[in-house]
Amino acid sequence: MSLPAILGGNPLRTEEFPDRITMGQAEIDAATKVIKTGNLSGFLGAAGKLFLGGPEVRKFENTWAEKYGFKHAISVSSWTAGLQVAFGAVGIEPGDEVICPPYTMSASATAAMFYGGIPIFADIDPENYCIDPKSIKERITERTKAVVVVHLFGHPADMDEILKITKPLGIKVIEDAAQAPGVFYKGKPVGTIGDIGGFSLNYHKHIHTGEGGLLVTENDDLAHRCQLIRNHGENAVDMYELDTLANVIGGNFRFTELLATIATVQFQKLDKILKHRQKLAKYVTERLENIDGLTVQKLKNDMTHAYYMFPIRYNAEIIGLSRNLFVRSVAAELPKPRIWETTPLAEAYVKPLYLEKIYQQQIAIGKKGFPFTYNDIDYKYEKGLCPVVEKLYEEEMIISPLVREPLTINDMQDFVNAIIKVIENSTQIQEKLGGDSETGFMDPAQAIDNIIDDE
Ligand SMILES: Cc1ncc(COP(=O)(O)O)c(C=O)c1O
Repeated sequence: MSLPAILGGNPLRTEEFPDRITMGQAEIDAATKVIKTGNLSGFLGAAGKLFLGGPEVRKFENTWAEKYGFKHAISVSSWTAGLQVAFGAVGIEPGDEVICPPYTMSASATAAMFYGGIPIFADIDPENYCIDPKSIKERITERTKAVVVVHLFGHPADMDEILKITKPLGIKVIEDAAQAPGVFYKGKPVGTIGDIGGFSLNYHKHIHTGEGGLLVTENDDLAHRCQLIRNHGENAVDMYELDTLANVIGGNFRFTELLATIATVQFQKLDKILKHRQKLAKYVTERLENIDGLTVQKLKNDMTHAYYMFPIRYNAEIIGLSRNLFVRSVAAELPKPRIWETTPLAEAYVKPLYLEKIYQQQIAIGKKGFPFTYNDIDYKYEKGLCPVVEKLYEEEMIISPLVREPLTINDMQDFVNAIIKVIENSTQIQEKLGGDSETGFMDPAQAIDNIIDDE
């Protein structure tokens, strides 16, 4: 057995993993064409044809909508903006409760607060890592207006069970599919299984335009409201027949012609990217699934997965190493990352959102506790609120951004072999380094910081 690299042995691989290459000649050509027109945004913030954007924006929206059969696709400047627009469109008002998972990017919950919505956190399912329908049920009150469903890491949430609960109560469902473009659940594309949903086009996503997003819905009224809120709606309400003006006060959440033309080219690459990640994930899953102490996701036949991240549930007791020591030991076997995307493993993903200061101190909009104080209810964001999430955060969750293009099965082989080498040598590593008192996690933020610090 060769000496583990963390104990001074030779690393399993020294050749660096390739970066993501996201932009090519087609994007350059498309962008150049638009730049030459001199018109980088076709929007006009007033009633009329250009209220819905210029030709590139509308082309991009139609391309995505047609491919998946979405009735409406509405581009936005980011998916955070998209979430804010969606909360406005579904009619969130001050004091409305919005049930969200706490294991997600912060905006899935905070965006509701711009309308005075109060995030109420439900626990997640320990297998698909998405919001748990049983926990949603426990959190519902007469003030519940919406549920946010995040298809975390690209695995679809249990939409049927969620809708069974929400539909009879008239509770709106917003699908945060930022990490799950092109994902199917029981034959349906995620995004429009609930009332409204959407995708992120930020740099880290499968396809991107640096920043950007796309809202999708089957509902005409919601689509019109989104279009209004995206673009100074108060100026253009006469374009639509609305039953109420509530929340149509708008902003500038518009996408640009330049980004839209790049997005159209990027979109043509999505299927290939998804197929590639699925092939790599299948290989990694098959090699890790029988290892005691590691749990990889088992995907049901009637759904697909986008593998935005490859999650592994870790059992320190069985492996015999703390999660932190395991992650560091695997990293030592592999080339030093230069960017987040070449980092082999990271701990924890994100802190459960309700443990963040904004919820702990209940200060969000202004200094008087709005929206938390609106209902005269003592909202509790205490530790212990969502035990599954807390355990994943503190002990079990490991994610990898390596299961992606343009890495190959050979790269995956090295990645898996590094994991196996560490497990086979865990007793030796534990004996030598098990007493080290590590502080903090090597979470994604820390991993990125370490790389930046080294530069
Ligand atoms: C689950 C989730 N929701 C929301 C967002 C916000 O998207 P954006 O960065 O496009 O504003 C992200 C982005 O990381 C995300 O992963």
